[in-house]
Amino acid sequence: MKKTLLALAVMATGAALPAAAQDAGQINVICSVQAEWCNLMQTVYSRTTGVKVNMSLKGSGEALAQLIAEKANPKTDLWFGGTGDPHLQAAEQDLTLEYKSASLPQLHAWAQQQAAQSKFRTVGIYSGPLGFGYNPELLAKKKLPLPKTWNDLLKPEYKGEIQVANPASSGTAYTMVATLVQLMGEDKAFDYMKKLHRNISQYTRSGTAPIKAVARGETSVSISFVHDGPGEKMQGFPVETITPSDGTGAEIGSMSLIKGARNLEAAKKFYEWSLTASAQEMGAAAKQFQLPSNKSAKVDPRVPDFKKIKFIDYDYAKYGSSAERRRLIGKWEKDVNSLPR
Ligand code: F6P
Repeated sequence: MKKTLLALAVMATGAALPAAAQDAGQINVICSVQAEWCNLMQTVYSRTTGVKVNMSLKGSGEALAQLIAEKANPKTDLWFGGTGDPHLQAAEQDLTLEYKSASLPQLHAWAQQQAAQSKFRTVGIYSGPLGFGYNPELLAKKKLPLPKTWNDLLKPEYKGEIQVANPASSGTAYTMVATLVQLMGEDKAFDYMKKLHRNISQYTRSGTAPIKAVARGETSVSISFVHDGPGEKMQGFPVETITPSDGTGAEIGSMSLIKGARNLEAAKKFYEWSLTASAQEMGAAAKQFQLPSNKSAKVDPRVPDFKKIKFIDYDYAKYGSSAERRRLIGKWEKDVNSLPR
């Protein structure tokens, strides 16, 4: 299976495998998408260029925490993927490097806007909507209704049936907090999250863990990015997704070069490659269905149809600012997570 994916991806990049990988240096990458995509990029890039790619897999919040910890002596060269808010925060905290790719005009407006908002210290590489994952077999077995709105999740019959990640470690969960605050206003959103807390069985570390738990029948409902559903379904699990009819937010998955990177020139080349259509198509090849930011990248039919979703006008600059993100996560810990269930 891996071989087939690799062959397809190499064909897609249009690059031939070198007879023997030369010693072309190395780069240290934090990768915040799912392992299969990280691994595919690592393998294809290493085999086509000879550059050794050392990948470390981390959720968005954890990646930011590592970069803050490494600030005086960075070990990371590039941060690939993960929600955009912590990338904006990293930009603001001077952890990432200003870099203006010549490929920017080839990207969708939302990806270019992410770059402009960060003063070119990050760039959008994909986008995806927040919604709910559910296991139709479990819902039927437990005679639970299909949740269609945010308020539906407060129904008492969902007690112990819902999983979402912890916003301190997960960009998915922080996107939920920021979305609810923008949708309902802050006081109502926190009242809502306190009530929702009663129905949550577990706050996971990683943003994708809840939909995996849904797929495996461990919980009925998750709050997740809906592009994470089809990959689970392709493995034969009973899982569907829906976006709330009252409105939702979306992430702008991002990529940043690290300030003080030891392998900067090599990292810039990986960055440029990651913005190409063929590299971005590797997401779908690895069964991950975010919308690619390169306008020429093929859009897999399993990518959520943005035109059918009701979106809020998400304020990426405000909710990506250090002060706001820190404040909201702190408030969530104090007012929501500390409550008994
Ligand atoms: O890799 C899947 C994904 O949903 C990405 O689209 C997203 O950027 C990332 O996970 C967020 O992960 P986490 O919530 O763990 O930070």
